[in-house]
Amino acid sequence: MSTPHRHAADQDLLERYVKMILAAPVYDLAVRTPLQAAPALSALLGNQLLLKREDLQPTFSFKVRGAYNRLVQLDDAQRLRGVITASAGNHAQGVALAARELGIKATIVMPSTTPELKVQGVRSRGADAVLHGASFPFALAHALQLAEQSGSTFVSPFDDPYVIAGQGTVAMEVLRQQQGTLDAIFVPVGGGGLIAGIAAYVKYLRPEVRIIGVEPEGSSCLRAAMQAGERVVLPSVDSFADGTAVAQIGAYGFEVCRQYVDEVITVSNDELCSAIKLIYDDTRSITEPSGALAVAGVRAYVARTQVQGQTLVAINSGANINFDSLRHVAERVAAQVPGAGHPTVLGNCDPQPNQTASYQSEKSYTNGHSRLLTSPPDLA
Ligand SMILES: Cc1ncc(COP(=O)(O)O)c(C=O)c1O
Repeated sequence: MSTPHRHAADQDLLERYVKMILAAPVYDLAVRTPLQAAPALSALLGNQLLLKREDLQPTFSFKVRGAYNRLVQLDDAQRLRGVITASAGNHAQGVALAARELGIKATIVMPSTTPELKVQGVRSRGADAVLHGASFPFALAHALQLAEQSGSTFVSPFDDPYVIAGQGTVAMEVLRQQQGTLDAIFVPVGGGGLIAGIAAYVKYLRPEVRIIGVEPEGSSCLRAAMQAGERVVLPSVDSFADGTAVAQIGAYGFEVCRQYVDEVITVSNDELCSAIKLIYDDTRSITEPSGALAVAGVRAYVARTQVQGQTLVAINSGANINFDSLRHVAERVAAQVPGAGHPTVLGNCDPQPNQTASYQSEKSYTNGHSRLLTSPPDLA
């Protein structure tokens, strides 16, 4: 394809997402969250840091946006047959809430390592919670099988244009809330739905703003895909940051990310623990490990690039952490070298043993996945 044609096709992709984002009726359920100044972190970093407080959503994460935008599109027959999803926990709660609101039966498959808080968050909203497999890919394979058997609609946690558009409403708010200088937005990445929605909206309207993905070192599937130039399945995934423990970036998300994400940063579990503490110190709010990824990424970025005086936004994406896991986070922070700009990695910051799952059944996972992920993605 020649460059002008390619450019037109790219703009077309962004424009279709922007239209879907503007039309997404997420505020039936979601709230517009504050873009909050973080004065102590800003002083520490020498840059103005603003936190997009998605932990203040009704399910304590942004996921309700995409889940509602997907479910609201179902026709009457699909609504009657119900929905099934696989989720590390936050999408599960979003789907459960959206399904209750719309009167749809929901079955949610979650890895057996899912924090109890998230399981309760699903059950208390009236959905069936099925615990299956050591990590997300196993839960996904099971959910796909159940969907096939039952005729229910499978609702992907990230690999669906409506889910991506729902998450993209975060960017719509950020650009309205920060109309002046904005240098970069740091976005946590699991399966890539959130960053794809944000990148599509921001690059269409303000292409100069850098979009920087942040992943845990133990589940950096976007970075692996960017390096390979295609989606790859990671051989294993560490699930300390359970919300983002995904082995393969979504097909729809990657189509956007490969062109519009400027950079992907990875951070260690100890850096995540430090970020949880720094956010708490500055705002008195608690974030889950995945929720603190963006702030950890900002620290790593500033340390590496030495930028000063910039305006940086970090998406605080979720707060669903078991209360007793906070003890492990605090212990890890206490074990780090005092005064060090970045924490020394002293082993795995791991609240539960055996959380790294490897995929003996990788084949069945990818087969199951590809059935639903037709490529190239087509935004009808
Ligand atoms: C708290 C939190 N942050 C970030 C993400 C990443 O979102 P995505 O899978 O759309 O990349 C998730 C995904 O579940 C999450 O729960």
